[in-house]
Amino acid sequence: MRIISIAALALPLIACGGPDTSQANNAAANISNEARPAATAGASTAADLSMFARAPSKEAALKIRHDRHEGMEAIGKGNKIIKQELNAGSPNLALVRSTAARMAALAGQASGWFHAGTGPELGKTGAKPEIWQNQPDVAAKLTAFQKAARAFSDVAAGNDPEAMKTRFAAMSQTCKACHDKYRSEMHH
Ligand code: HEC
Repeated sequence: MRIISIAALALPLIACGGPDTSQANNAAANISNEARPAATAGASTAADLSMFARAPSKEAALKIRHDRHEGMEAIGKGNKIIKQELNAGSPNLALVRSTAARMAALAGQASGWFHAGTGPELGKTGAKPEIWQNQPDVAAKLTAFQKAARAFSDVAAGNDPEAMKTRFAAMSQTCKACHDKYRSEMHH
């Protein structure tokens, strides 16, 4: 009844503040909030493709490409350190732990490395154009990597090298899954 009366009076200045605070100043949006549940049902399973938004400028695109290159290089170095330690007779678990945490953080940052306009059109890159033709698949592969990196970091916080090896192998699969399809070999 209250909603109907607001609509009937057509008082757009009434900002009563709905659950969606970003639209709290828009009385019309508040009214439509009441009628929204049916419209949003089913939308939650779709991949979030906002990470592929176009880079705002050439300069920004160059920076993203640079961050991606540096970030992947750091991820690769971390990977090497961990592999070496876990294969050692007595692994330096403190080093594994800190490196795993850094890799999980870098994996999270990777969501910002795939803007449209940061591919081969910029020049030299190991990122294949297929990345931007298969956005949902790339997003899924990145999400799998991020989850695996967090799972590995969680287990690395403990003291069980065998469990770490299992999680590390699972994470490595997620690197390979993306590289096989979306990374070209670059020779520096
Ligand atoms: C979602 C896709 C994806 C995942 C997951 C991924 N990578 Fe990459 N990786 C790329 C792409 C694309 C490039 C090429 C980047 C470029 O040249 O701009 C790359 C480049 C690299 C490079 C070369 C860095 C350079 O540019 O010199 C290394 C090393 C690397 N990745 C290691 C890893 C490791 C290790 C993992 C997992 C722990 C991983 N990557 C996970 C997509 C991925």
